[in-house]
Amino acid sequence: MAPPGVLNVGLIGLGTVGSQVAARLIERRDALARRSGGELNLCRILVRDPAKPRALEVPPGLITADPDLLLDDPAINVVVEVAGGDEPVRTFLERAIKSGKHVVTANKLVMARHGPSLLELAGEMNVDIHFEAAVGGGIPLISTFRTDLQANDIERIGAIINGTTNYVLGRMATDGIDFQAALAEAQAAGFAEADPTDDIDGHDATYKLAIMASIGFGARVAPEEIYREGIAGIQQVDFRYARELGYEIKLVAIGSRLDGRVEVRVHPALVPGGHPLAQVQGAYNAVFIEGDLVGQVLLVGEGAGGRPTASAVVGDLIDLARSIRRGVQLRSAFSFDPEVTLVPMDDVISRAYFRIRVADRPGVIAAIGTVFAEEQVSISSLIQKDQWVADGTAELVVTTHPASNGALERSRLRMGDLDTVRSVPAFIRIFE
Ligand code: NDP
Ligand code: HSE
Repeated sequence: MAPPGVLNVGLIGLGTVGSQVAARLIERRDALARRSGGELNLCRILVRDPAKPRALEVPPGLITADPDLLLDDPAINVVVEVAGGDEPVRTFLERAIKSGKHVVTANKLVMARHGPSLLELAGEMNVDIHFEAAVGGGIPLISTFRTDLQANDIERIGAIINGTTNYVLGRMATDGIDFQAALAEAQAAGFAEADPTDDIDGHDATYKLAIMASIGFGARVAPEEIYREGIAGIQQVDFRYARELGYEIKLVAIGSRLDGRVEVRVHPALVPGGHPLAQVQGAYNAVFIEGDLVGQVLLVGEGAGGRPTASAVVGDLIDLARSIRRGVQLRSAFSFDPEVTLVPMDDVISRAYFRIRVADRPGVIAAIGTVFAEEQVSISSLIQKDQWVADGTAELVVTTHPASNGALERSRLRMGDLDTVRSVPAFIRIFE
């Protein structure tokens, strides 16, 4: 058992986030003890490879590769998990909870997939799970939903919630850097996941949206149920055309409550230049929340990187230490209304941008207009952009009025089949 007033911390992971957490616990020990009302004593660190050279010097004997030394140690009363991935981490957390340890985690994958069952187990074992760092890095988001906005019915969440893709899109749009080079920069900066396709293909954003939608809308949303598109198909020319039309291209995560149903989707979108989400640069995240009482709330901050994420992790630890001292247990953040269902993607309404490569000859626009008309999609603007005399093609950019996703997708497919259309290289929804 830990001596009274001391919280013995077992840390799982000493990478980008873990090394910042450990540094804070070691270097600011006294200040954190004053804020927590007791010592936060880092007493074991679990890693995969203890022989790996580390930038941070930790006291000898702390590092191990044996999970039992941490999970079976009765003196450890809180496990801080910053390792990432599903298994074996989910099992580690389950074991920790079953042996009466509290948990602080930055792992959105585990919380999105297994949060409800882990929280239920934690309730039975009378321990807490804190996961502020799982969504939005250093931005106080979970606590905002959990406490400050709990009087509201949340109506809409619109977010830039993946730092890597925001960084990559920004470098491509503003500096003309190619996709692979921009991604390599994000990896070097420590924003990207161990497998960066998790970021690029939008999986990471679906985990975070699943957590926010579950808490915000009280709907049980699994990440696999969220409509998802990544950023790999976005080409340089789309940034140029989008800017000419007054938009920035961002990977957005959107959740809305509509007549007892919930709409959840992650995809690239044209965001109007004047919207706060269009201004979000680099690895910053921003979450725009609309509640029925509070109106609109915008939370912005560093959504990735070791230091901002450690800020949320260590903040959770201090919170936990205080609630242990007061003998209060945190209530589960997930409580679901079984009546709430998800809106099928075909029924989602949005405006859209299409880039269409066509044969540069008469009748093309009429053929495209007929497809849109037959699908009940109304055109908002149509501009002929670049033209290539050598192969007799031209590029048309069409924006539409709001239409169902089903109709927009059918229009795209049918246009692709016209003999006057060479290809439809871009179909990007417009965020409003
Ligand atoms: P890293 O890949 O930099 O570090 C992972 C650490 O965990 C390493 O020290 C690794 O050990 C250890 N580890 C991995 N698997 C195991 C295992 N099975 N058993 C024991 N140790 C293990 O990851 P990050 O620090 O970037 O991310 C950690 C978590 O934080 C993830 O869940 C991530 O999604 C989340 N997160 C990350 C953010 C970021 O900007 N990086 C922001 C917000 C959340 P070893 O060093 O020996 O390889
Ligand atoms: N890979 C994630 C991102 C880290 O880029 O946002 C923060 O969760």
